[in-house]
Amino acid sequence: MTVTESAASRAAQVLSRPTSINGLTVPNRIVMAPMTRMFSPGGVPGEDVVSYYARRAAAGVGLIVTEGTYVGHESAGQSDRVPRFHGEEQLDGWAKVAEGVHAAGGTIVPQLWHIGMVRKQGQPPFADAPAVGPSGLRIGADEATGKAMTRRDLDDVIGAFAEAAADAERIGFDGVEIHGAHGYLVDQFLWEGTNRRTDAYGGDPVARTKFGAEIVAAVREKVSPDFPVIFRYSQWKQEAYDARIAETPEELDAILAPLAAAGVDAFHASTRRYWLPEFDGSDLNLAGWTKKLTGKPTITVGSVGLDGEFLGAFVGEGSEVKGIDDLLDRLEAEEFDFVAVGRALLQDPEWAAKVLQGRFGELAAYDAASLKTLS
Ligand SMILES: Cc1cc2nc3c(=O)[nH]c(=O)nc-3n(C[C@H](O)[C@H](O)[C@H](O)COP(=O)(O)O)c2cc1C
Repeated sequence: MTVTESAASRAAQVLSRPTSINGLTVPNRIVMAPMTRMFSPGGVPGEDVVSYYARRAAAGVGLIVTEGTYVGHESAGQSDRVPRFHGEEQLDGWAKVAEGVHAAGGTIVPQLWHIGMVRKQGQPPFADAPAVGPSGLRIGADEATGKAMTRRDLDDVIGAFAEAAADAERIGFDGVEIHGAHGYLVDQFLWEGTNRRTDAYGGDPVARTKFGAEIVAAVREKVSPDFPVIFRYSQWKQEAYDARIAETPEELDAILAPLAAAGVDAFHASTRRYWLPEFDGSDLNLAGWTKKLTGKPTITVGSVGLDGEFLGAFVGEGSEVKGIDDLLDRLEAEEFDFVAVGRALLQDPEWAAKVLQGRFGELAAYDAASLKTLS
């Protein structure tokens, strides 16, 4: 399919409008989605990580959400190649990442992460720490194989997120994103499949949101009032694509309202295909519902630009064909405010520049080989 000039210039125009999140001006609507890369031995992001992010900022990505980075709790992660957001050397590395992105004209937030019951084996420095979660359950399991978190554990993890957010502000980041998606710790609380607690943190959707909301509130308390706090969440889980935390808009509202009240400035609604309607009776996607229910700036994501002919059609499994026009219509209608791009930005560091300049013919189709490099 060929790219018409008017479609290309419309894409450039709509995507290049600046907008803001709690006072932070983001120069355009393109967000780099958080993507774990495992290129940080010892948890320290090095010079190659600095240039990986700076290159994408220089090529016009408006807001970078970093790969998930472990908060300072012994059970937060399992890999010694995932960057940590605690420790002097690690934070020095991160400070250079923020500096590099700012020098290239971009904005950047770290994605703060605790993997909870996804933890299978431990690598240094916390090889012997247990896997922890709301009920000690892995996704799909009926019997606990990990530790159901005690009051002390909850407080420790909440404190670790708050500490990381304070560090993020201190070392020059523009905000933080809390990883509440994809079946990791915060999401394990949100989802009844992994949360069987009978205390105040389990039960109905509001109770299941209490842990996430307490993290947000603790973060909010430790950072300046104008430091943006983004919350990423999803229905789907890494090991259960069909899982849902909310079956209806009312249930979604019960989850999002306490998070917004605790101080979330923007939501990042993670879907695998952005064009799918979330609930019957409306075309709104998950980000659209999130914005409608909370009134907060919202980021959509999911299979944007994976097709080499971006202005052509995206063909999703079992779904109708959607072109870039559909995405632009939704942005213009303010269904959501930002579009996050994952794999297409791994494939092509220049992706944003090409799209913003209407150079669609230069976009290459996604190839999974790009997962293996940090170019
Ligand atoms: C290699 C890879 C690593 C990812 N790591 C994370 C992560 O650390 N945190 C997160 O919230 N999502 C993660 N995701 C999901 C992406 O942020 C994004 O939501 C997903 O890839 C869909 O967007 P895309 O279709 O544009 O790639 C990852 C995806 C990929 C491909």
